[in-house]
Amino acid sequence: MEVFQAIDSRKSIRGFKSTPVPTSLINQVFTAANRTPSYANSQPWEVAVVMGSKRDELSEKIYGLASSNAPINPDFEIPKNWPPAIEQRTKDHGARRFKALNIERDDAESRNALRLMNFKFFDAPCAVFFFMDGALNSWSSTDVGMYIHSVSLCAHALGLGTCLQASLAYYPEAVRQVLGISSTKKLLLGLSLGYPDWEVPLNSYTSTRMNLDEYLRIYN
Ligand SMILES: Cc1cc2nc3c(=O)[nH]c(=O)nc-3n(C[C@H](O)[C@H](O)[C@H](O)COP(=O)(O)O)c2cc1C
Repeated sequence: MEVFQAIDSRKSIRGFKSTPVPTSLINQVFTAANRTPSYANSQPWEVAVVMGSKRDELSEKIYGLASSNAPINPDFEIPKNWPPAIEQRTKDHGARRFKALNIERDDAESRNALRLMNFKFFDAPCAVFFFMDGALNSWSSTDVGMYIHSVSLCAHALGLGTCLQASLAYYPEAVRQVLGISSTKKLLLGLSLGYPDWEVPLNSYTSTRMNLDEYLRIYN
């Protein structure tokens, strides 16, 4: 798939078929993403691909925490006090998504069910967790962010779907414990990976974007 088309047609997938993802395809995705650029070629990403019984064990653990409303404790602080224009975009996104799903503003039960689907990886057979060493700073998280985008684009180009999920980083201790990862490794983000199920209503939602003239300045 051509790069312009891949960027334009990728979207978050929030409903997957149970069909397993062949290891050969996983290798293809990560072999391609391996060429992602990074500061001084530092390549700070550390990645866990979780399938099978480990996937189920991990989902059960974090779903249990999320459904009992255990306090979240992400390694990287969740943004607070957004600048107003940015906060408005996040609100518009939430409102559009709920509207597309016919979920009313005061329907706390449906909203909570939607939140909890994150911790079941939206039924994807595969979850991916991105870590970096705790000694690193935001320069490296920029690199890992670019790496994650490479993964989601390459997966998409191969007919797979992804949903990048901050929520999968809400309980990092539990993730490290299940995967046997050192506490010196900080969890940045998780994603669900699998074949999109286009019958799932959530997948019919398409997000909007700003117009270029809202943020782009060209000087010449
Ligand atoms: C850093 C990051 C964290 C995200 N966390 C979540 C999440 O926890 N749950 C979720 O359903 N979507 C999550 N998303 C997906 C965004 O909502 C989505 O990318 C955005 O609305 C644009 O929609 P699109 O991906 O369909 O183009 C996250 C995306 C990013 C980049």
